[in-house]
Amino acid sequence: SLAFVLALAGGYLIGSIPFGLLLTHAAGLGDIRAIGSGNIGATNVLRTGRKGLAIATLLLDALKGVAAVLLARWLLGDQDLVSGTAAVLGHTMPVWLGFKGGKGGATALGVCYAAMWPVALVCTVLWLGTAKLTRMSSAATLTAVGAAPFVALVLSDTEHALLALLVALLIFWRHEGNIRRLIAGTEPKIGQKG
Ligand code: G3P
Repeated sequence: SLAFVLALAGGYLIGSIPFGLLLTHAAGLGDIRAIGSGNIGATNVLRTGRKGLAIATLLLDALKGVAAVLLARWLLGDQDLVSGTAAVLGHTMPVWLGFKGGKGGATALGVCYAAMWPVALVCTVLWLGTAKLTRMSSAATLTAVGAAPFVALVLSDTEHALLALLVALLIFWRHEGNIRRLIAGTEPKIGQKG
């Protein structure tokens, strides 16, 4: 239906706003894609040394996920993850940046909070716990995102779990470089320039 197409396109467009890139550019830090991991996400913004900008990037990227879920609820009623999934796709593959965007963790977390907050809460605890243990953002994100489908199966429903699995596959794929560095033992710790 038209509402479904609008929910997909709207979610994608909301997700495709590259807040990390825009904020660091506005702050006169140049192109974030030339710094650290080259990613446009909060973890890499933190490598500029600007904690406030990193927090703003995290919150705004997560808010995109929340907005997408609200859009889907408004257009489709109960299919809240349609736009949310599209938003993560938009963040990771924005048309504006030649489809080379971020890694999706923050946006997926926002989607999760808006669509199934108990699952998001468990994932947040997993992220924080893994970050405390490893001091590596990618390890924390991969742990939380990898667990999400199973947590959703228990605390939400099969449909949400399947979409969480789809999003997890997308996010793992975008972390290919991080996974290689984690295996090689060369992944930088949080805040390290890398
Ligand atoms: O989810 C964490 C991931 O975004 C790591 O970012 O910059 O270390 O590749 P980065």
